[in-house]
Amino acid sequence: MSVSTAAVAPSLCAPLPVLGGDVTVPLVTGGEVAYAALDYAASAPALQRVWDDVAAYAPYYGSVHRGAGYLSQLSTDLFENARRTVAEFLDCRADDQLVFTRSTTDSLNLLAAALPAGCQVFVFETEHHASLLPWRDARVTYLDAPRTPGQAVETLERALAARAVSIEGGHGPALVCVTGASNVTGELWPVRELAAAAHAHGARIVLDAAQLAPHHPVSVRDLDVDWVAFSGHKLYAPFGSGVLAGRADWLRAADPYLAGGGASRKVTRREDGGVDVEWHDSAARHEAGSPNVIGAYSIASACKALTEAGFDTLVARERHLIAKVREGLADVPEVRILSLFGDDAPRVGVISFVVEGWNSSHFAAALSAEYGIGVRDGLFCAHPLVRTLLGTAPETQGECGAPEAAPGEKSLNAIRVSFGAGTPDEHVDRFVHAVRELVTQGAKWRYRTEDGRCVPAV
Ligand SMILES: Cc1ncc(COP(=O)(O)O)c(C=O)c1O
Repeated sequence: MSVSTAAVAPSLCAPLPVLGGDVTVPLVTGGEVAYAALDYAASAPALQRVWDDVAAYAPYYGSVHRGAGYLSQLSTDLFENARRTVAEFLDCRADDQLVFTRSTTDSLNLLAAALPAGCQVFVFETEHHASLLPWRDARVTYLDAPRTPGQAVETLERALAARAVSIEGGHGPALVCVTGASNVTGELWPVRELAAAAHAHGARIVLDAAQLAPHHPVSVRDLDVDWVAFSGHKLYAPFGSGVLAGRADWLRAADPYLAGGGASRKVTRREDGGVDVEWHDSAARHEAGSPNVIGAYSIASACKALTEAGFDTLVARERHLIAKVREGLADVPEVRILSLFGDDAPRVGVISFVVEGWNSSHFAAALSAEYGIGVRDGLFCAHPLVRTLLGTAPETQGECGAPEAAPGEKSLNAIRVSFGAGTPDEHVDRFVHAVRELVTQGAKWRYRTEDGRCVPAV
């Protein structure tokens, strides 16, 4: 038996209170069990503190930026204070702009729409689709999956050095988009080094912090990234907001992401019958329409809660949980954990794996139906990365239902377990126990495919 480093961990903080901790779910085998939410990488539960803050503010909710009434002014103040709080949380530069968006996907699409003409984009094939796909009008170079953080930097440097030269003889604008922590392997990417490489070659860099910000402090200044994007719902603030923060120049020079009220400072009718518009130069330029004040307020509340809890403490606790899961899975020879950078790479609480002889959808369905554990299965919106890690062909996609990967065969999908500041030890202990039991004893129930998903055959 392996010696558990988790068992000798120093005194750890308690999990942060989150909603849903006392929710029970039915088991197909009978009875109910407390739900173990182990899909934080998709959406984390709301922090109780965030919920309480939103509930306290809700009676005072009012229209933002437009109303003359007291509650409108209060809401406007809260909205703008939220902007300042989140900018502080991200350690933004004084002249950075912080735009409230709907999500990371929205933030990166906004930046894609604001690229200067002729901008070349460099992105690793390992990225989440939100980082891989928004650059429609740009010339995109997709970089092969690196196998070490050092290789990532070398690959980027080579690609930037070889980039096309414009007719004037110089390099045009370029943007590198990189994740801070992989949504598949949980591994941390060498963001500071990639930023240095980008800048050395006259390029800019945007950090996809969707999986990093909920687990580690993100300092725009220290990492020296030009922009950062993240989502509220992965940061314990599930009220439909996200953030894009960073350099103001490209954002100011771009057409508004959405055209409409709020983004426009002045609109006048021309003599020829048309309309002239003066757009705002501030973040409002890209926030047309009535902003999601509760979404922004909830993100600010989550930022405060995480800062007050202290990332050192949160990281220590998460490491303890990661060690428990990884050591537990290492004891099951049929389990293979997916990794790009190897066992020793620093990581967040996101772990993907396959189980020999099991269809991942079947396995995930059994974890839910028989143990009350919510994980995720599939390719996690990072199809090229997962296929690279599984060694499967591009056209393959695992079907749900009966086991498809016989011993020795390659799985076509993976299972992902993910956790964070609200996860109690019991959830990961139950998960490790369930994996072991399913592998050694098999599922207790029968399953079938319905609408492409594996479900208990009830
Ligand atoms: C690394 C990464 N980037 C971007 C996204 C997209 O986030 P959202 O769906 O909130 O836009 C995700 C979501 O899983 C992610 O994991």
